[in-house]
Amino acid sequence: MHVLITGGAGFIGSHLVEYHLGRGDHVHVVDNLSTGSRKNILPYLEHPEFRFTQEDVLTWSDLEKTVGWADRIYHMAAVVGVFRVLEAPIQVLATNIAACERLLRAAAHCGWRPQVVIASSSEVYGPQGRIALHEELPLVITPGAPPRWNYAISKLADEAFGISFARQHDIPVAVVRLFNTVGPRQTGRYGMVVPRFVHQALRGEDLTIFGDGQQTRSFIDVRDTVIFLDQLAARAPHEGLICNVGHDAEITIEALARRVLERSNSSSRLRFLSYEEAYGQVYEDIPHRCPSTARLHAFTTHRPTWSLDATLDDLIARLRIEEEG
Ligand SMILES: NC(=O)c1ccc[n+]([C@@H]2O[C@H](COP(=O)([O-])OP(=O)(O)OC[C@H]3O[C@@H](n4cnc5c(N)ncnc54)[C@H](O)[C@@H]3O)[C@@H](O)[C@H]2O)c1
Repeated sequence: MHVLITGGAGFIGSHLVEYHLGRGDHVHVVDNLSTGSRKNILPYLEHPEFRFTQEDVLTWSDLEKTVGWADRIYHMAAVVGVFRVLEAPIQVLATNIAACERLLRAAAHCGWRPQVVIASSSEVYGPQGRIALHEELPLVITPGAPPRWNYAISKLADEAFGISFARQHDIPVAVVRLFNTVGPRQTGRYGMVVPRFVHQALRGEDLTIFGDGQQTRSFIDVRDTVIFLDQLAARAPHEGLICNVGHDAEITIEALARRVLERSNSSSRLRFLSYEEAYGQVYEDIPHRCPSTARLHAFTTHRPTWSLDATLDDLIARLRIEEEG
């Protein structure tokens, strides 16, 4: 199979690269290295079935040609991370929406119907109650939508493009609402909580919790995520599919911090920061975030194999080696 991955030098994208090369597929990555890095794909650069192009999806002149070459496209490229979203709210909207549209237009006109996976996010659910978030829920955007919501708005627009192109052009599109995904190669630089806590614990620094720590999240290991994405891509119907990809075990951020301390045997302490202190502006957090996995399990046969503890142990062991080296 020929696989095109936009944003393939990023965290999730680089795991898709590893997964598909491991299955004997040909993989082409396009990435502008804005948040991704060459280091993430270094082991594959010499691989005979791998090709990397450092370009922006918005301006890459070979996009149409490469989309025509692909049997499967994962569109992972996006401006991501709370810090970047707050810093560059216009760029989030402009890049995320235009890149997705350009890619889908190319897929619609390539004379062939590649399978397309569009990365959306659990952020589109916004602040809901303590319920399992399922794909049929009406979505609510905060009135006056502060720029913090631009990421969710951009992902909603991408979802609408994905489903509309699927219906109008008969392309099998899987829109995946990714819940907090964790694992090796994720960076804490742009606001991701697990790598940040693990780094802080290993360096003996305070673990900084934003807010009161009672907000909950559900974490899924990226090595499970890529198997789900592969299965969803293969099974998406021609009218398109929206599907959560996550794990339904929920944990508060404070409990997560304590778990990191325990698993790493760290004597670091917890330090609570208000959102204003953390982000330099008023910030509306999402209090609970746990997916309904009913649809995911109806469309796929895989079941998560990584528990949160197993992922944390693996990350802690890897970062220890990195810090010592
Ligand atoms: N990691 C998560 O928990 C999570 C949760 C929800 C949604 N997502 C979505 O999954 C996708 C991948 O996220 P990730 O965590 O791997 O983040 P990431 O930042 O590691 O990956 C994004 C990649 O896209 C590249 N990129 C950005 N804009 C580009 C452009 N215009 N042209 C070419 N390349 C570009 C970046 O350099 C980076 O390598 C994103 O679309 C993100 O919104 C991730």
